[in-house]
Amino acid sequence: MERTILITGGAGFIGSHVVRLFVNKYPGYRIVNLDKLTYAGNLENLKDVELKPNYTFVKADITDTGSLHRLFGEYEFSGVIHLAAESHVDRSITNPMEFIHTNVLGTANLLNAALESWKDRFSGKVFYHISTDEVFGSLENGGYFTEQTAYDPRSPYSASKAGSDHLVRAYFNTYGLPVLISNCSNNYGPNQFPEKLIPLIINNILNRKSLPVYGKGENIRDWLYVEDHAAAMDVIFHRGKKGETYTIGGSNEWKNIDLIRFLCRLMDKKLDRSPGDSEKLIRFVKDRAGHDLRYAIDAGKLKKELGWEPSLTFEQGLNRTVDWYLENREWLQHVLTGDYEKYYEKQYVSR
Ligand code: NAD
Ligand code: DAU
Repeated sequence: MERTILITGGAGFIGSHVVRLFVNKYPGYRIVNLDKLTYAGNLENLKDVELKPNYTFVKADITDTGSLHRLFGEYEFSGVIHLAAESHVDRSITNPMEFIHTNVLGTANLLNAALESWKDRFSGKVFYHISTDEVFGSLENGGYFTEQTAYDPRSPYSASKAGSDHLVRAYFNTYGLPVLISNCSNNYGPNQFPEKLIPLIINNILNRKSLPVYGKGENIRDWLYVEDHAAAMDVIFHRGKKGETYTIGGSNEWKNIDLIRFLCRLMDKKLDRSPGDSEKLIRFVKDRAGHDLRYAIDAGKLKKELGWEPSLTFEQGLNRTVDWYLENREWLQHVLTGDYEKYYEKQYVSR
Protein backbone atom coordinates (compact mmCIF):
# COMPACT_ATOMS: atom_id res chain seq x y z
CA MET A 1 0.00 0.00 0.00
CA GLU A 2 1.28 3.50 -0.88
CA ARG A 3 -0.14 5.02 2.28
CA THR A 4 -2.65 4.41 5.06
CA ILE A 5 -5.31 6.99 5.81
CA LEU A 6 -7.59 7.19 8.82
CA ILE A 7 -11.07 8.56 8.09
CA THR A 8 -13.22 9.20 11.18
CA GLY A 9 -17.01 9.28 10.97
CA GLY A 10 -17.03 7.27 7.74
CA ALA A 11 -20.33 5.55 8.32
CA GLY A 12 -22.17 8.86 8.63
CA PHE A 13 -23.65 10.87 5.79
CA ILE A 14 -20.68 12.82 4.39
CA GLY A 15 -18.02 10.43 5.73
CA SER A 16 -19.48 7.48 3.81
CA HIS A 17 -19.21 9.41 0.53
CA VAL A 18 -15.60 10.34 1.34
CA VAL A 19 -14.71 6.73 2.18
CA ARG A 20 -16.31 5.50 -1.07
CA LEU A 21 -14.47 8.13 -3.13
CA PHE A 22 -11.06 7.33 -1.60
CA VAL A 23 -11.46 3.53 -1.62
CA ASN A 24 -12.47 3.50 -5.31
CA LYS A 25 -10.24 6.28 -6.61
CA TYR A 26 -7.08 5.28 -4.75
CA PRO A 27 -6.77 1.47 -4.74
CA GLY A 28 -3.17 1.95 -3.54
CA TYR A 29 -4.34 3.62 -0.31
CA ARG A 30 -5.46 1.61 2.68
CA ILE A 31 -8.53 3.37 4.10
CA VAL A 32 -9.30 2.75 7.76
CA ASN A 33 -12.76 3.98 8.71
CA LEU A 34 -13.13 4.62 12.43
CA ASP A 35 -16.67 5.17 13.67
CA LYS A 36 -18.48 4.74 16.97
CA LEU A 37 -21.74 4.03 15.13
CA THR A 38 -23.94 6.41 17.07
CA TYR A 39 -27.53 6.73 15.85
CA ALA A 40 -26.05 8.65 12.86
CA GLY A 41 -23.59 5.95 11.83
CA ASN A 42 -24.98 3.43 9.37
CA LEU A 43 -22.78 0.73 7.81
CA GLU A 44 -25.47 0.06 5.21
CA ASN A 45 -24.13 3.28 3.64
CA LEU A 46 -20.95 1.42 2.71
CA LYS A 47 -22.24 -2.00 1.61
CA ASP A 48 -20.73 -1.49 -1.85
CA VAL A 49 -17.16 -1.04 -0.60
CA GLU A 50 -17.04 -3.17 2.55
CA LEU A 51 -15.35 -6.13 0.83
CA LYS A 52 -12.72 -4.11 -1.05
CA PRO A 53 -9.19 -5.18 -0.09
CA ASN A 54 -8.07 -1.61 0.71
CA TYR A 55 -10.92 -0.93 3.17
CA THR A 56 -11.06 -1.65 6.91
CA PHE A 57 -13.76 -0.71 9.40
CA VAL A 58 -12.94 -0.16 13.08
CA LYS A 59 -15.69 0.45 15.63
CA ALA A 60 -14.21 2.91 18.12
CA ASP A 61 -14.90 6.17 19.92
CA ILE A 62 -12.71 9.22 19.28
CA THR A 63 -13.10 10.22 22.93
CA ASP A 64 -11.44 6.94 24.01
CA THR A 65 -7.71 7.70 24.30
CA GLY A 66 -6.72 4.03 24.68
CA SER A 67 -8.45 2.98 21.44
CA LEU A 68 -6.79 5.77 19.47
CA HIS A 69 -3.40 4.93 20.96
CA ARG A 70 -3.77 1.27 19.96
CA LEU A 71 -4.97 2.17 16.46
CA PHE A 72 -2.11 4.58 15.77
CA GLY A 73 0.27 1.87 17.06
CA GLU A 74 -1.22 -0.74 14.75
CA TYR A 75 -1.27 1.35 11.56
CA GLU A 76 1.25 3.84 10.25
CA PHE A 77 -1.18 6.56 9.22
CA SER A 78 0.22 9.22 6.96
CA GLY A 79 -3.09 11.09 6.87
CA VAL A 80 -6.16 11.69 8.96
CA ILE A 81 -9.46 13.03 7.60
CA HIS A 82 -11.55 13.85 10.63
CA LEU A 83 -15.34 13.97 10.16
CA ALA A 84 -16.63 12.18 13.29
CA ALA A 85 -18.87 14.55 15.20
CA GLU A 86 -22.29 15.13 16.61
CA SER A 87 -23.79 17.13 13.76
CA HIS A 88 -27.44 18.05 14.30
CA VAL A 89 -28.15 21.57 15.63
CA ASP A 90 -31.55 20.67 17.18
CA ARG A 91 -29.97 17.85 19.19
CA SER A 92 -27.24 20.22 20.40
CA ILE A 93 -29.92 22.47 21.86
CA THR A 94 -31.41 19.63 23.94
CA ASN A 95 -28.12 17.89 24.76
CA PRO A 96 -25.14 20.28 24.52
CA MET A 97 -22.74 18.21 26.64
CA GLU A 98 -22.68 15.35 24.17
CA PHE A 99 -21.57 17.80 21.50
CA ILE A 100 -18.88 19.33 23.68
CA HIS A 101 -17.63 15.87 24.66
CA THR A 102 -17.47 14.42 21.14
CA ASN A 103 -16.59 17.46 19.09
CA VAL A 104 -14.12 19.20 21.40
CA LEU A 105 -12.63 16.40 23.50
CA GLY A 106 -12.77 13.87 20.66
CA THR A 107 -10.87 16.20 18.33
CA ALA A 108 -8.28 16.96 21.03
CA ASN A 109 -7.77 13.21 21.54
CA LEU A 110 -7.27 12.66 17.85
CA LEU A 111 -4.79 15.55 17.63
CA ASN A 112 -2.84 14.10 20.55
CA ALA A 113 -2.79 10.63 19.01
CA ALA A 114 -1.47 12.00 15.69
CA LEU A 115 1.10 14.20 17.43
CA GLU A 116 2.36 11.36 19.60
CA SER A 117 2.52 8.92 16.70
CA TRP A 118 4.15 11.29 14.23
CA LYS A 119 6.46 12.87 16.84
CA ASP A 120 8.41 15.48 14.89
CA ARG A 121 8.48 13.42 11.69
CA PHE A 122 5.84 15.48 9.95
CA SER A 123 7.05 15.14 6.38
CA GLY A 124 4.34 13.54 4.20
CA LYS A 125 1.78 13.72 7.02
CA VAL A 126 -1.50 15.61 7.13
CA PHE A 127 -4.28 16.04 9.67
CA TYR A 128 -7.36 17.31 7.82
CA HIS A 129 -10.22 18.57 9.98
CA ILE A 130 -13.70 18.87 8.47
CA SER A 131 -15.68 21.77 9.83
CA THR A 132 -18.74 23.83 9.09
CA ASP A 133 -19.66 27.35 8.00
CA GLU A 134 -21.80 27.62 11.15
CA VAL A 135 -18.68 28.60 13.14
CA PHE A 136 -18.91 32.03 11.46
CA GLY A 137 -22.36 32.78 12.90
CA SER A 138 -25.22 34.34 10.97
CA LEU A 139 -25.09 36.71 7.99
CA GLU A 140 -27.82 39.15 8.93
CA ASN A 141 -26.71 42.06 6.71
CA GLY A 142 -25.59 40.54 3.44
CA GLY A 143 -22.08 39.49 2.42
CA TYR A 144 -20.41 36.08 2.41
CA PHE A 145 -18.31 33.94 4.74
CA THR A 146 -14.66 33.72 3.67
CA GLU A 147 -11.52 32.26 5.23
CA GLN A 148 -11.02 35.65 6.90
CA THR A 149 -14.44 35.86 8.60
CA ALA A 150 -14.20 36.09 12.40
CA TYR A 151 -15.68 33.21 14.39
CA ASP A 152 -19.07 33.91 16.00
CA PRO A 153 -20.75 30.55 16.73
CA ARG A 154 -24.25 30.79 18.16
CA SER A 155 -25.46 27.23 18.88
CA PRO A 156 -23.88 24.56 21.09
CA TYR A 157 -23.15 22.59 17.89
CA SER A 158 -21.38 25.44 16.13
CA ALA A 159 -19.56 26.48 19.31
CA SER A 160 -18.27 22.94 19.77
CA LYS A 161 -17.12 22.85 16.13
CA ALA A 162 -15.47 26.27 16.58
CA GLY A 163 -13.69 24.91 19.67
CA SER A 164 -12.38 21.97 17.65
CA ASP A 165 -11.19 24.28 14.83
CA HIS A 166 -9.29 26.42 17.36
CA LEU A 167 -7.60 23.34 18.80
CA VAL A 168 -6.53 22.16 15.34
CA ARG A 169 -5.04 25.58 14.57
CA ALA A 170 -3.36 25.67 18.00
CA TYR A 171 -1.62 22.33 17.29
CA PHE A 172 -0.30 23.79 14.02
CA ASN A 173 1.01 26.95 15.68
CA THR A 174 2.33 25.31 18.83
CA TYR A 175 3.66 21.93 17.68
CA GLY A 176 3.91 22.36 13.93
CA LEU A 177 1.37 19.56 13.31
CA PRO A 178 0.62 19.73 9.56
CA VAL A 179 -3.07 20.55 9.56
CA LEU A 180 -5.76 21.58 7.08
CA ILE A 181 -9.26 22.83 7.86
CA SER A 182 -12.27 23.30 5.62
CA ASN A 183 -15.58 24.92 6.52
CA CYS A 184 -18.44 23.84 4.32
CA SER A 185 -22.05 24.94 3.86
CA ASN A 186 -25.14 22.68 4.05
CA ASN A 187 -24.75 19.33 2.31
CA TYR A 188 -27.53 17.23 0.81
CA GLY A 189 -27.68 13.96 -1.10
CA PRO A 190 -28.11 10.19 -0.67
CA ASN A 191 -27.68 8.57 2.77
CA GLN A 192 -28.48 11.69 4.83
CA PHE A 193 -30.25 10.87 8.08
CA PRO A 194 -33.90 12.00 7.83
CA GLU A 195 -33.64 14.41 10.75
CA LYS A 196 -32.00 17.02 8.48
CA LEU A 197 -34.23 19.29 6.40
CA ILE A 198 -34.07 17.80 2.88
CA PRO A 199 -34.38 14.06 3.71
CA LEU A 200 -36.97 14.86 6.38
CA ILE A 201 -39.13 16.70 3.87
CA ILE A 202 -38.69 13.94 1.26
CA ASN A 203 -39.66 11.26 3.78
CA ASN A 204 -42.64 13.22 5.06
CA ILE A 205 -43.96 13.96 1.58
CA LEU A 206 -43.59 10.29 0.70
CA ASN A 207 -45.60 9.30 3.78
CA ARG A 208 -48.06 12.23 3.58
CA LYS A 209 -46.91 13.56 6.96
CA SER A 210 -46.84 17.27 7.85
CA LEU A 211 -43.86 19.34 6.69
CA PRO A 212 -42.54 21.36 9.67
CA VAL A 213 -41.21 24.80 8.69
CA TYR A 214 -39.37 26.52 11.54
CA GLY A 215 -40.55 30.13 12.10
CA LYS A 216 -41.58 31.80 8.86
CA GLY A 217 -39.29 29.70 6.66
CA GLU A 218 -37.26 32.82 5.81
CA ASN A 219 -33.89 31.38 6.87
CA ILE A 220 -31.39 30.93 4.06
CA ARG A 221 -28.91 28.11 3.52
CA ASP A 222 -26.29 27.58 0.80
CA TRP A 223 -26.72 23.98 -0.44
CA LEU A 224 -23.99 21.73 -1.85
CA TYR A 225 -24.34 18.18 -3.23
CA VAL A 226 -22.44 15.82 -0.94
CA GLU A 227 -20.26 14.29 -3.70
CA ASP A 228 -19.08 17.78 -4.62
CA HIS A 229 -18.03 18.29 -0.99
CA ALA A 230 -16.16 14.96 -1.08
CA ALA A 231 -14.43 16.05 -4.31
CA ALA A 232 -13.37 19.31 -2.63
CA MET A 233 -11.93 17.31 0.29
CA ASP A 234 -9.95 15.18 -2.16
CA VAL A 235 -8.19 18.22 -3.66
CA ILE A 236 -7.67 19.92 -0.30
CA PHE A 237 -6.26 16.73 1.29
CA HIS A 238 -3.79 16.25 -1.56
CA ARG A 239 -2.92 19.81 -2.51
CA GLY A 240 -4.02 22.13 0.30
CA LYS A 241 -1.42 24.33 1.97
CA LYS A 242 -0.68 23.17 5.55
CA GLY A 243 -1.98 25.46 8.26
CA GLU A 244 -4.60 26.94 5.93
CA THR A 245 -8.37 27.05 5.89
CA TYR A 246 -10.63 26.63 2.85
CA THR A 247 -14.29 27.61 2.74
CA ILE A 248 -16.49 25.38 0.55
CA GLY A 249 -19.99 26.20 -0.69
CA GLY A 250 -22.47 25.71 -3.48
CA SER A 251 -23.10 29.40 -4.40
CA ASN A 252 -26.67 28.20 -4.09
CA GLU A 253 -28.76 30.12 -1.57
CA TRP A 254 -32.33 29.13 -0.88
CA LYS A 255 -34.95 30.31 1.59
CA ASN A 256 -36.23 27.23 3.45
CA ILE A 257 -39.84 27.81 2.40
CA ASP A 258 -38.90 28.14 -1.28
CA LEU A 259 -36.85 24.96 -1.11
CA ILE A 260 -39.67 23.05 0.60
CA ARG A 261 -42.17 24.23 -2.04
CA PHE A 262 -39.74 23.22 -4.80
CA LEU A 263 -39.43 19.74 -3.27
CA CYS A 264 -43.24 19.49 -3.03
CA ARG A 265 -43.61 20.23 -6.75
CA LEU A 266 -40.78 17.87 -7.73
CA MET A 267 -42.18 15.00 -5.67
CA ASP A 268 -45.76 15.54 -6.80
CA LYS A 269 -44.49 14.98 -10.35
CA LYS A 270 -42.36 11.96 -9.47
CA LEU A 271 -45.10 10.34 -7.38
CA ASP A 272 -47.79 11.13 -9.93
CA ARG A 273 -49.78 13.20 -7.45
CA SER A 274 -51.94 16.21 -8.35
CA PRO A 275 -50.09 19.54 -8.47
CA GLY A 276 -50.39 21.26 -5.06
CA ASP A 277 -51.02 18.00 -3.15
CA SER A 278 -47.84 18.04 -1.06
CA GLU A 279 -47.86 21.81 -0.39
CA LYS A 280 -51.02 21.22 1.65
CA LEU A 281 -48.84 19.35 4.16
CA ILE A 282 -46.77 22.48 5.02
CA ARG A 283 -47.07 23.58 8.69
CA PHE A 284 -45.34 26.61 10.22
CA VAL A 285 -44.05 25.54 13.64
CA LYS A 286 -42.20 27.12 16.58
CA ASP A 287 -38.82 28.48 15.51
CA ARG A 288 -35.50 26.86 16.46
CA ALA A 289 -33.89 28.64 19.44
CA GLY A 290 -31.13 30.99 18.25
CA HIS A 291 -31.94 30.14 14.62
CA ASP A 292 -29.19 31.59 12.36
CA LEU A 293 -30.77 33.64 9.57
CA ARG A 294 -28.42 33.14 6.65
CA TYR A 295 -25.30 31.22 5.68
CA ALA A 296 -23.51 31.85 2.37
CA ILE A 297 -19.99 30.96 1.31
CA ASP A 298 -17.49 32.64 -0.96
CA ALA A 299 -15.48 29.64 -2.22
CA GLY A 300 -13.23 31.82 -4.42
CA LYS A 301 -9.96 30.75 -2.77
CA LEU A 302 -10.67 27.06 -3.38
CA LYS A 303 -11.50 27.74 -7.02
CA LYS A 304 -8.50 30.00 -7.61
CA GLU A 305 -5.87 27.95 -5.79
CA LEU A 306 -7.05 24.37 -6.25
CA GLY A 307 -9.46 24.60 -9.20
CA TRP A 308 -12.50 23.18 -7.39
CA GLU A 309 -16.07 24.08 -8.36
CA PRO A 310 -19.42 22.36 -7.77
CA SER A 311 -20.16 19.99 -10.65
CA LEU A 312 -23.95 19.77 -10.31
CA THR A 313 -26.71 22.35 -10.45
CA PHE A 314 -29.18 22.28 -7.56
CA GLU A 315 -31.88 20.93 -9.84
CA GLN A 316 -29.63 18.02 -10.92
CA GLY A 317 -28.58 17.34 -7.33
CA LEU A 318 -32.13 17.43 -5.96
CA ASN A 319 -33.39 15.16 -8.75
CA ARG A 320 -30.65 12.65 -7.97
CA THR A 321 -31.36 12.89 -4.25
CA VAL A 322 -35.12 12.45 -4.51
CA ASP A 323 -34.64 9.54 -6.96
CA TRP A 324 -32.18 7.91 -4.55
CA TYR A 325 -34.64 8.09 -1.64
CA LEU A 326 -37.46 6.78 -3.83
CA GLU A 327 -35.31 3.90 -5.08
CA ASN A 328 -33.84 3.05 -1.67
CA ARG A 329 -36.95 2.79 0.46
CA GLU A 330 -35.44 -0.18 2.28
CA TRP A 331 -32.55 2.02 3.49
CA LEU A 332 -35.06 4.61 4.68
CA GLN A 333 -37.22 1.96 6.31
CA HIS A 334 -34.24 0.47 8.17
CA VAL A 335 -33.33 3.92 9.46
CA LEU A 336 -36.88 4.68 10.58
CA THR A 337 -37.33 1.32 12.34
CA GLY A 338 -33.79 1.27 13.79
CA ASP A 339 -32.99 -1.97 11.92
CA TYR A 340 -29.83 -0.43 10.45
CA GLU A 341 -28.25 -0.63 13.90
CA LYS A 342 -28.29 -4.44 13.61
CA TYR A 343 -26.06 -4.36 10.51
CA TYR A 344 -22.77 -4.11 12.41
CA GLU A 345 -23.68 -7.12 14.55
CA LYS A 346 -24.69 -9.15 11.48
CA GLN A 347 -21.77 -8.18 9.27
CA TYR A 348 -18.86 -7.78 11.66
CA VAL A 349 -19.54 -9.56 14.96
CA SER A 350 -21.57 -12.72 14.48
CA ARG A 351 -19.81 -14.05 11.34
P1 NAD B 1 -23.38 12.57 10.58
O1 NAD B 1 -24.06 12.91 11.87
O2 NAD B 1 -24.18 12.01 9.46
O3 NAD B 1 -22.20 11.54 10.85
C1 NAD B 1 -21.33 11.65 11.94
C2 NAD B 1 -20.59 10.32 12.12
O4 NAD B 1 -19.70 10.46 13.24
C3 NAD B 1 -21.53 9.15 12.43
O5 NAD B 1 -21.18 8.03 11.63
C4 NAD B 1 -21.26 8.86 13.90
O6 NAD B 1 -21.44 7.51 14.26
C5 NAD B 1 -19.80 9.29 14.04
N1 NAD B 1 -19.47 9.64 15.43
C6 NAD B 1 -20.15 10.46 16.26
N2 NAD B 1 -19.53 10.50 17.46
C7 NAD B 1 -18.44 9.70 17.36
C8 NAD B 1 -17.39 9.35 18.26
N3 NAD B 1 -17.39 9.81 19.51
N4 NAD B 1 -16.42 8.54 17.83
C9 NAD B 1 -16.43 8.04 16.57
N5 NAD B 1 -17.39 8.32 15.68
C10 NAD B 1 -18.38 9.15 16.08
O7 NAD B 1 -22.63 13.89 10.15
P2 NAD B 1 -22.37 14.51 8.71
O8 NAD B 1 -23.50 15.36 8.34
O9 NAD B 1 -21.92 13.44 7.79
O10 NAD B 1 -21.14 15.48 9.05
C11 NAD B 1 -19.81 14.97 9.05
C12 NAD B 1 -18.85 16.09 9.42
O11 NAD B 1 -18.98 17.16 8.50
C13 NAD B 1 -19.11 16.69 10.80
O12 NAD B 1 -17.87 16.98 11.40
C14 NAD B 1 -19.89 17.97 10.51
O13 NAD B 1 -19.67 18.94 11.51
C15 NAD B 1 -19.28 18.38 9.19
N6 NAD B 1 -20.17 19.18 8.30
C16 NAD B 1 -21.43 18.72 8.00
C17 NAD B 1 -22.22 19.45 7.11
C18 NAD B 1 -23.60 19.00 6.73
O14 NAD B 1 -24.32 19.73 6.05
N7 NAD B 1 -24.04 17.80 7.11
C19 NAD B 1 -21.73 20.62 6.54
C20 NAD B 1 -20.44 21.05 6.89
C21 NAD B 1 -19.66 20.30 7.75
O1 DAU C 1 -24.17 24.81 7.40
C1 DAU C 1 -23.62 23.56 7.64
C2 DAU C 1 -24.47 22.81 8.64
O2 DAU C 1 -25.68 22.45 7.97
C3 DAU C 1 -23.78 21.56 9.20
O3 DAU C 1 -22.65 21.96 9.93
C4 DAU C 1 -24.74 20.78 10.10
O4 DAU C 1 -24.11 19.59 10.54
C5 DAU C 1 -25.98 20.45 9.31
O5 DAU C 1 -26.90 19.77 10.14
C6 DAU C 1 -26.59 21.71 8.72
O6 DAU C 1 -27.17 22.54 9.76
P1 DAU C 1 -28.59 23.26 9.62
O7 DAU C 1 -29.12 23.55 10.95
O8 DAU C 1 -28.53 24.37 8.64
O9 DAU C 1 -29.41 22.04 8.92
P2 DAU C 1 -30.88 21.47 9.12
O10 DAU C 1 -31.10 20.47 8.04
O11 DAU C 1 -31.11 21.01 10.53
O12 DAU C 1 -31.81 22.71 8.86
C7 DAU C 1 -31.75 23.45 7.64
C8 DAU C 1 -32.69 24.62 7.76
O13 DAU C 1 -34.04 24.14 7.78
C9 DAU C 1 -32.52 25.42 9.04
O14 DAU C 1 -32.77 26.79 8.76
C10 DAU C 1 -33.61 24.88 9.97
C11 DAU C 1 -34.71 24.52 8.99
N1 DAU C 1 -35.56 23.37 9.38
C12 DAU C 1 -34.96 22.21 9.73
C13 DAU C 1 -35.68 21.10 10.06
C14 DAU C 1 -35.01 19.80 10.47
C15 DAU C 1 -36.94 23.47 9.29
O15 DAU C 1 -37.50 24.51 8.95
N2 DAU C 1 -37.69 22.36 9.60
C16 DAU C 1 -37.12 21.18 10.00
O16 DAU C 1 -37.87 20.20 10.31
